[in-house]
Amino acid sequence: MCGIIGYVGTQQATPILMEGLSVLEYRGYDSAGICVQNGRLTTIRAEGKLVELEKKVKRFESQGTCGIAHTRWATHGVPQERNAHPHRDCTGGIAIVHNGIIENYQELRLELVASGHLFASDTDSEVLAHLIEDRVKQGIPLLQAVEQTLERVRGTYGLVVISKDVPQTLIVARMGSPLVIGVGEGEYYIASDPSALITYTKDVVYLDDGEIAAVTSEGVQLSGGVSMLAQDRLLKIDWDVEETSKGGHPHFMLKEILEQPQVIADSLRGRVDLIEGRSILGGLEGIRDRLAQIDRIIIVGCGSAYYAGLVGEYLIEEIAGIPVEVELASEFRYRKPLISKRTAVLAISQSGETADTLEAIYEAKRKQAITLGLVNVVGSSIARETDAGVYNHAGPEVGVASTKAFVSQLTVLTLIAVYFAQLREEEINGHAILAGLAELPAQVQEILDGRQEILKATAIMRNADHCLYLGRKFQAPIAYEGALKMKEVSYIHAEGYTSGEMKHGPIALISKAFPSVVLCPNDSMFEKTWSNIEELKARGGAIIAITTDRARVEDSVDACIVIPQTLEVLQPILSVIPLQLLAYEMALAKNLDPDKPRNLAKSVTVE
Ligand code: G6P
Repeated sequence: MCGIIGYVGTQQATPILMEGLSVLEYRGYDSAGICVQNGRLTTIRAEGKLVELEKKVKRFESQGTCGIAHTRWATHGVPQERNAHPHRDCTGGIAIVHNGIIENYQELRLELVASGHLFASDTDSEVLAHLIEDRVKQGIPLLQAVEQTLERVRGTYGLVVISKDVPQTLIVARMGSPLVIGVGEGEYYIASDPSALITYTKDVVYLDDGEIAAVTSEGVQLSGGVSMLAQDRLLKIDWDVEETSKGGHPHFMLKEILEQPQVIADSLRGRVDLIEGRSILGGLEGIRDRLAQIDRIIIVGCGSAYYAGLVGEYLIEEIAGIPVEVELASEFRYRKPLISKRTAVLAISQSGETADTLEAIYEAKRKQAITLGLVNVVGSSIARETDAGVYNHAGPEVGVASTKAFVSQLTVLTLIAVYFAQLREEEINGHAILAGLAELPAQVQEILDGRQEILKATAIMRNADHCLYLGRKFQAPIAYEGALKMKEVSYIHAEGYTSGEMKHGPIALISKAFPSVVLCPNDSMFEKTWSNIEELKARGGAIIAITTDRARVEDSVDACIVIPQTLEVLQPILSVIPLQLLAYEMALAKNLDPDKPRNLAKSVTVE
């Protein structure tokens, strides 16, 4: 989704801004632009990929040591150059880049047009430039002009403003859309996502909602005149640039799939006491007593995080005996959720910035629930808004289709389930679960080493326009996640269903041209799932089985992908791996770029 980068300091801004934009490409975008201050403002924008902008930037003189840039993912207005950011006021002397949505832009625009402003785009964002212009014309200093503008605005913003008349200064503001300031030596970087600035600095400070600040090469002053660089606000980013590059792999998606053994080990590091059979979650300890009192958990998330939550429901109910409900974050706050002080609302989010999930947390807070986060990005909004939480430690995930973050979510959810069981003094076999977790990295590696097996399945999928993914109990959410992966990167229409529901509808679709991927590990559900395989076979549908038991399955199916056996509660972490690989291989087979699926964004910061 939209990305922001800004720079003020002593170096030429353009190369830094262009480099930042290229790092932000992964978030998904359809146009991009840059604006550099050099006595006036030079603004260059282009529709399409960054190469188009690069061509134009080369042709223009864009010298200057202060500037802003943006990748846009269309919400209001088609993806064309005139709708790309930076947007300017009538004079061209003020330019802005904006992430988020201005909900009352139509009324503001009408009012501005009536008073003589000329608009150049169809976007909601452009009103901000004109509102600031009005105030600057009245002699109000830029920082206060931005402040007064934002008082008129309803909606969300991560905003950076530049003016030709205020040299070496960027005004930044945040409400519900992240902005981080990177601190260098006499220079500052602004980004909507820290990955865009870690090449330059690892010292960062996150803006809080409602904060407006002036960033100059001298420092960062909040609108009240207070410096933002207090020690307790400075954070150190704990990952490297190499972690955000492809490291020799053709795609981020493959790199991140292959990293999963390490990711599971990292998610478990320091959190497993194998001798006592306990999980150690320091991030929850601060509210341990309150957590011991909870009688219900509601998990909220979107996309893959939601499916991880569905696995979490089975895990927590089975291991800790606490009732769990899982809600799509985008629905949660619209349906009067019944919440008490003894309800814990757990938000799962890789980015920690998904607008719907964040809104669900605000709703839970209004209802006085205990709020928890299972978040990958340290210091992100959800991590900061929740009462307590656990980080995934999966490292930056760049591929739009989540893979390693999903697997680390399942790993941490297992630890959380064991932790809750401990709090409630449930009789569980913590030793077996934790020992099983510790074995997972080697078992995932085994699947990855044998990944040629997947090609048998791609041969079946190649001619399909539609397919079904089936699983029961712990494997049902994995069927949904597998289907989501397939849709996202290969554009094959894939439906995830619980095996038991197949006969209530989807079976009508089965024919020779309609393959099914069936998750049938040798667990408590095997016999039941086997009947579904028989039903599919009877209707001529091709079957790709993901199983732990070659001997029982192979002869009855068209392709058999074998994974190692683990405890039933941990099996989803292994069974999802072939499904990720299958989706990836299908994207390649169809000549698609799995890292840049059409219309999708990595981090969805609009509702
Ligand atoms: C987007 C991504 C999905 C992701 C979802 C939730 O839709 O394309 O891959 O699962 O957002 O993102 P989050 O950062 O909250 O986990």
